Amino acid sequence: MSIELDNVSIGFGPPSNRYEVLKDINLSVKENEFVSIIGFSGSGKSTLMSLFAGLNSPDKGEVKLNGKVIKEPGPHLGIMFQNYSLLPWLTTFENIALATKQVFPKYSKAELTEHVEKYIKMVHLMSGRDRKPHELSGGMRQRASLARTLSLQPEVLILDEPLSALDALTRGDLQEEILNIWEAEKKTVVMVTNDVDEAVLMSDRIVPLTMGPEATLTEPFVVNMERPRDRHKLNDHPEYQRLKTEITTYLMNLNKEAKALKSDRKYTMPSVEPKNFTPISGRPSLRNKSSQPS
Ligand SMILES: Nc1ncnc2c1ncn2[C@@H]1O[C@H](COP(=O)(O)OP(=O)(O)O)[C@@H](O)[C@H]1O
Ligand SMILES: [Mg+2]
Repeated sequence: MSIELDNVSIGFGPPSNRYEVLKDINLSVKENEFVSIIGFSGSGKSTLMSLFAGLNSPDKGEVKLNGKVIKEPGPHLGIMFQNYSLLPWLTTFENIALATKQVFPKYSKAELTEHVEKYIKMVHLMSGRDRKPHELSGGMRQRASLARTLSLQPEVLILDEPLSALDALTRGDLQEEILNIWEAEKKTVVMVTNDVDEAVLMSDRIVPLTMGPEATLTEPFVVNMERPRDRHKLNDHPEYQRLKTEITTYLMNLNKEAKALKSDRKYTMPSVEPKNFTPISGRPSLRNKSSQPS
């Protein structure tokens, strides 16, 4: 399935004090393509992903899945946000089973178990099958979260910094697993990353997002390197070196431009006032209040 953003803009806040996060965004991701979005923190990457996922509607423009406008999340889209947390009171197996049941309600118990275990094995997490999130390491939680997203068998994966919180070794493992799954199951992927190496290793195209407000996507970098890519040999690959330098330099210049712009710009602070403000000394104790019979 293909997914595209057509002239999309979105902002937050009241008209008098609107913060335009994204402006005139155009991006078309082809079926089976792996596209990465790269940009600085706060520029609007998660907002962009929420548009792709149908979790937010654009103020202007359209989001299309296979050419059809989408307005809400649907079964074709698998979303994995960095903080898209697992339910803490359920084990890995139970978390994935709960999600699976919503998409495959007719599964028998045996079919459900088989399906869930297939995805737990796919991310190499059988050792954490019966553990709750707090009993898993960060890397294992990300695996569980990925398995849950994949278990819904979405055709398009929307991954918002899925690996950013991980140490380098675990991150490398999971990059490889995502690539293996992408190659085996032929999915369309849009992934946000803050890591140039990761973007070059994984993507067909890398699209930079400028700094906000009114952030927009710029000319993509095309990664013309054969697959599967061997991370251990990448460092010696001339194309890898070239792309890495070019993208890093480009991002550094974006950063400089944004800083120069900022020093020219006059900011108006939002007028924010608390609605029901009671000074601390006069604040009624919550505990007393709620324990009183009414
Ligand atoms: N629901 C929202 N309401 C108000 N402002 C928001 C909302 N979501 C994001 N923003 C603002 O939009 C900007 C971009 O945020 P985000 O998309 O999370 O950036 P990134 O993922 O690139 O770090 C930030 O300034 C953030 O405060
Ligand atoms: Mg973000």
